[in-house]
Amino acid sequence: METQIVSRSHGWLELAKKYIEAGEVVAFHTETVYGLGANALSDEAVLKIFELKGRPADNPLIVHVHREYDISPLIDSEPSYAAALRRAFLPGPLTMVYPSTGKVSKHVSCGLNTLAIRVPSSPTAQEFLKAVDLPIAAPSANLSKHVSPVSARHVYEDFSGKIPLILDGGACSGGIESTVLDCTGEVPQILREGLVTREMISSVAGECVIYHAQKGEKPKSPGMAYKHYSPRCKTAFFNEDRLDEAVSLYNEAEKKGETPCFLCESDVCALLHGFRTLDLGGTGEVMAQRLYDLLRKGEKTATLLIGVEPKEKGGVMAGVLNRMRRAFGVEHGTEES
Ligand code: TXA
Ligand code: MG
Repeated sequence: METQIVSRSHGWLELAKKYIEAGEVVAFHTETVYGLGANALSDEAVLKIFELKGRPADNPLIVHVHREYDISPLIDSEPSYAAALRRAFLPGPLTMVYPSTGKVSKHVSCGLNTLAIRVPSSPTAQEFLKAVDLPIAAPSANLSKHVSPVSARHVYEDFSGKIPLILDGGACSGGIESTVLDCTGEVPQILREGLVTREMISSVAGECVIYHAQKGEKPKSPGMAYKHYSPRCKTAFFNEDRLDEAVSLYNEAEKKGETPCFLCESDVCALLHGFRTLDLGGTGEVMAQRLYDLLRKGEKTATLLIGVEPKEKGGVMAGVLNRMRRAFGVEHGTEES
C-alpha cells in the first residue's frame, strides 16, 4: 500500500472520507500529537488500529468528535463540573472520561463501561471530523511504545506502506498528548497530565485531584502499565544537581566510540558548551512543543541520549516531566502506547 501525505488541497477531505467509510485507518493532525483514526462505530476498523500499532488489547482509545454537541449521544450522564469544563476548554487538548452509552464499538473502551472523548481544536482535525461526520477512534499515531508523532514525517516513519493517508497539518503546536480527565466521580481526576493543567481545571471545577495507581492496583487508565515514549537508543536520566555524573557518563561513552548526546533545557545546554546537546527551550510550553521531535532526532543521531531533568515543575511542566521520565525509563507503570 502506498502512503500518501496530503495537506490542504482540492479533494483531500473527500479522500479521507472515502478511506474512513471503507474501514481504513487515516492519520490526522491535531493540536497535541498526530492521531491514527478509524470509524469508532466499526469493530473491524477499530481492531485495525490495535493491529497496526501493536497496541495491547486492554488499552482503550479516545473517541474524537467534531463538536461538543456530538458528545451527548455517546455518554450516559455528566456531572455539572464536567459541563463547565467542557465549556471552558473544548475544543482543545482535554479528553474527558464519561459513563458510556455503548454506541461505539466495544473495542474502543476494551470492555470498560466508560468512554474517553475529545474535541480537538486543530483546523485539520476539525475539518476532517466534520467531513467524515462519524466518531473517530484514535490513539497517537506511533508504533506502540515509540515516541509520539508531532509531524506528518514522524507518522510516515512508523506507518509508511501500512496506511493509505496522512492528513498533514504541519507541526503540532501543543506537542504532548491531551490531559485525560476522569469525569465519572464527584471530583474530576486527572489520569494523564497534559496541556490543560490541574490548576486550570481547579479554577473552573473548584477541585481536581491527580490519580496515582496504588501498588498492586489495576490502574484506572488501563494503559498505565506500559512503558512509553521511548527513543530507540540507550538512555540515562539525571537531576541537574548530578550534572557532573552526567558529564562523566558522556565522556566514558565517547571513549568507547559511542555517540552520546544531552537533552536538556536551554540554561543547562549553555553550561554544556562543546558537548553535543539538544535544546528543549526554557518554558513548559516550549519544552512540550519540542520534546518528541528532539527524542526522535536523538534516536537518529545518538547511541546514548542523556536527559537532564528541567528545574521548573509547575503547570504544563507536570505533563512534560511525566513524558520525560517515561521516555527515559525512570518511571514505569505508565500509560498507553
Ligand atoms: O492528545 C491525545 O490525546 C492524542 C490525540 C491523537 O488525540 N491521543 C492519544 O491517544 O494520546 P493514546 O491512545 O495514545 O492515549 C489514550 C490514553 C491512554 O492512556 C488510555 O489508557 C486512556 O487515554 N484512556 C482511553 N480510554 C479510557 C477510558 N475509558 N478510561 C480511562 N482511560 C482511558
Ligand atoms: Mg499514545
